[in-house]
Amino acid sequence: MGARFEELDWRETSIGVISLRRRRDPSLERDVHEIKLDDEFLMSSLFTVAEAELARLGLDALSGTDLDVVVGGLGLGYTAQAALEDQRVRSLRVVESLESVIEWHQRALLPLGSELVSDRRSHMVHGDFFAMVGDGSGFGAETPDQRFHAVLLDIDHSPTNVLHPSHAAFYEPEGLRRLAGHLHPGGVFALWSDDPPDENVNAALTEVFATSEAHVITFTNPYTGGESTNTVYVAKLAGPDHCPKG
Ligand SMILES: C[S@@+](CC[C@H](N)C(=O)[O-])C[C@H]1O[C@@H](n2cnc3c(N)ncnc32)[C@H](O)[C@@H]1O
Repeated sequence: MGARFEELDWRETSIGVISLRRRRDPSLERDVHEIKLDDEFLMSSLFTVAEAELARLGLDALSGTDLDVVVGGLGLGYTAQAALEDQRVRSLRVVESLESVIEWHQRALLPLGSELVSDRRSHMVHGDFFAMVGDGSGFGAETPDQRFHAVLLDIDHSPTNVLHPSHAAFYEPEGLRRLAGHLHPGGVFALWSDDPPDENVNAALTEVFATSEAHVITFTNPYTGGESTNTVYVAKLAGPDHCPKG
């Protein structure tokens, strides 16, 4: 067993000081990795159920193979890992604004790092997801007009509790319409939220997408001993279900 607490790295960024720490939780008898933004917890390896469900529910809404997928927000990598577990995924672009987070995976400071980096289907893209949608530049795609079968997003706490004010416009119908322009017909947008299902979010999604469903994900909270919930929205564009190229 290593030290009880270790700050593995920290950096000043445009949105605050981001730090990575590993600590031994004596009551759970396991190592916990945490990413903090200033004094706020952004991500903990203790809470990963809904992060993985974001990928599973989003991809379950698609039929066909040879799927090209975008994950917005790398974090500890649980959404990306769950997407790669789906063998129908042909390519995965993970858009992350903080170079340090990508580096932590590349340096294997995080438990899933080596696995994610060595999978030939995955590409880490350093950039601002919302700026990429806003200016139409795409997600570091091979060509600016490349379309994707699914975009799985977990960056903000929720559409109404955003990390930076510049993110808020994305969750309005106009922002969602821009995102839909990067999807194939029948494509899926899945969104993680820390808040309970919100009628206004569903309303914005159904202005742009043919269907939208809010899934409540319940998981055990090791600190309270009780249960906690997150929400995963899955919205799908109208259009034929995806078929692989013949
Ligand atoms: C909650 S974490 C993602 C957790 C991830 N779903 C997982 O399974 O570990 C949010 C991530 O989004 C990143 N992020 C913040 N703003 C961003 C932006 N504008 N564009 C891309 N990534 C951003 C943060 O640095 C952080 O790594």
